[in-house]
Amino acid sequence: MKHILLFGPPGAGKGTQAKLLVEKYKFMHLSTGDMLRDEIKRSTETGLKAKAIIDSGQLVPDEIVAEMVRLRIKNIKDNTGIIFDGFPRTIAQARNLDEIMNAENQEIAMMIAIDVNDDEIIKRILERGKISQRSDDQDINTIRNRIDTYNRQTAILADYYKQQEKFKFVDGIGTIEDIFKEICKLVEE
Ligand code: AP5
Ligand code: MG
Repeated sequence: MKHILLFGPPGAGKGTQAKLLVEKYKFMHLSTGDMLRDEIKRSTETGLKAKAIIDSGQLVPDEIVAEMVRLRIKNIKDNTGIIFDGFPRTIAQARNLDEIMNAENQEIAMMIAIDVNDDEIIKRILERGKISQRSDDQDINTIRNRIDTYNRQTAILADYYKQQEKFKFVDGIGTIEDIFKEICKLVEE
């Protein structure tokens, strides 16, 4: 089974496309954002540490996120493909992921980047903020900080996967269905 990284700025549609991929191909969905929000809801030690960081639009420390991922995919079954959504987000996390996958005798097949411009991102997130429970969706400054953090720390990961010839790219502007079709083509290549 293939393990795929869905990549892109906040609001690009990673979560939306991940859900569709899970329905169609029975992947396991691994969203570090969802996992952290669950830790916050349960008021765990990790959740307590993560809350203020997420609300400021910064990244939770690499060690915390990598350990969550390691525990989640420990002893993964050979036939389970994973969709990584929002992880890795730093070079250190990408290296951690390589180590975790090596230990499980697994390999990342590709990174699929979803490209969306800042204006569209802000529009989408503010719109979702009206109905979502996400505290980081409510405030334009937090959203801008999330975009800045992405540009400063995360965007560079494209190069990491380009060097390994694993980088693929889709235009993230268009209908959810059309973008999904493009992603399916890449997954089935
Ligand atoms: P995370 O939960 O990963 O959030 P994010 O990356 O900011 O991205 P979003 O979930 O907001 O967007 P998405 O790309 O999933 O888009 P979606 O499908 O929802 O991370 C949150 C925070 O947790 C981080 O800021 C950080 O603090 C922390 N964190 C998480 N992972 C971490 C890590 N690895 N390391 C350190 N810290 C970490 O779509 C957005 C909206 O647009 C939806 O309303 C959707 O319906 C709509 N939409 C989707 N597609 C389309 C389309 N084609 N056209 C129109 N609207 C669309
Ligand atoms: Mg998401």
